[in-house]
Amino acid sequence: MTVQMSDLEAQLTALRDEAQQAIAAITTLEQLEQLRIKYLGKKGSLPQVLGGMGKLDATERPRIGAIANEVKEALQTGLDQKKAALQSAQIEAQLEAEAIDVTMPGVFRPQGHAHPLTSTIEKAIDIFVGLGYTVAQGPEMETDYYNFEALNTPPDHPARDMQDTFYLPDGNLLRTHTSSVQIRYMENNDPPIRIAAPGRCYRRDTVDATHAAVFHQIEILAIDEGLTFNDLRGTIKVFLEAMFGEIEIRFRPSFFPFTEPSAEVDVMWRGRWLEVLGCGMVDPNVLKAVGYDPEIYTGFAAGFGVERFAMVLHQIDDIRRLYASDLRFLRQF
Ligand code: DAH
Repeated sequence: MTVQMSDLEAQLTALRDEAQQAIAAITTLEQLEQLRIKYLGKKGSLPQVLGGMGKLDATERPRIGAIANEVKEALQTGLDQKKAALQSAQIEAQLEAEAIDVTMPGVFRPQGHAHPLTSTIEKAIDIFVGLGYTVAQGPEMETDYYNFEALNTPPDHPARDMQDTFYLPDGNLLRTHTSSVQIRYMENNDPPIRIAAPGRCYRRDTVDATHAAVFHQIEILAIDEGLTFNDLRGTIKVFLEAMFGEIEIRFRPSFFPFTEPSAEVDVMWRGRWLEVLGCGMVDPNVLKAVGYDPEIYTGFAAGFGVERFAMVLHQIDDIRRLYASDLRFLRQF
């Protein structure tokens, strides 16, 4: 049986039209791949039709062959174009699905702010950093040595009394002041030294308007050759003026085991003197305890009560307000 040339030509055109309709109708890349296999795959329709070419008259083959190539190219182009179209549609759809409408009203989240104690510490630290001091820190759980002994505080000193200090069952204690950081820092660093050490302290104080069992101090320590009480006075004055602006201050002679001479500083607040810090020249015994030569080095130290500072800065009448977590109070700062 011979295959009529017109038969094959008609089959090819019909195949092309059918395939093009099918390509136009499909909507997914998977369907497209199935179509490709169906028409152009090894066992697909086009190769099948072409199988009939062998039976063609030799003179007809080139012409039908050319038509077959055209059909094949037309299908291939159709498939390629559809593939590109489906792929970009897929990307479009994905972009659409992931789009964020930036004009939509958001969920309102109230913005918090620093607690007045935190902002007071930050303000004080900023001033000392501006004066060339480095921030130092130490543990809140201390040994007797760092909290008392190395600070020239003899065993019979009242500060060691059970009435004042929280002792832990293992013999350690909760530091009663940040002065312990002085010792830890000097043990690990050589002079000259200038540090500011903020931190939490603990005492068995009866809580009232100006006393809390947990409170904060900032310790400063400067050690160098030739430092005098005048340097201490100048530093404290510059600091308090930067902290509070124009404020009346006075130095009062005092006593601390770790400084000699020692002083307390009061600021004029609401018509009366309010003690805000203790200070003095570092006692030679303290320098000896950390292996510094007191014949070469002198230094000064001070400890500030952060709560007192915050009370003066913000006109707070009762220290307990700082710990009550009452938002009506805190929102004012
Ligand atoms: N540590 C003292 C206190 O808790 C405060 C103090 C006084 C610190 C004199 C010092 C200082 O560094 O020199 O009350």
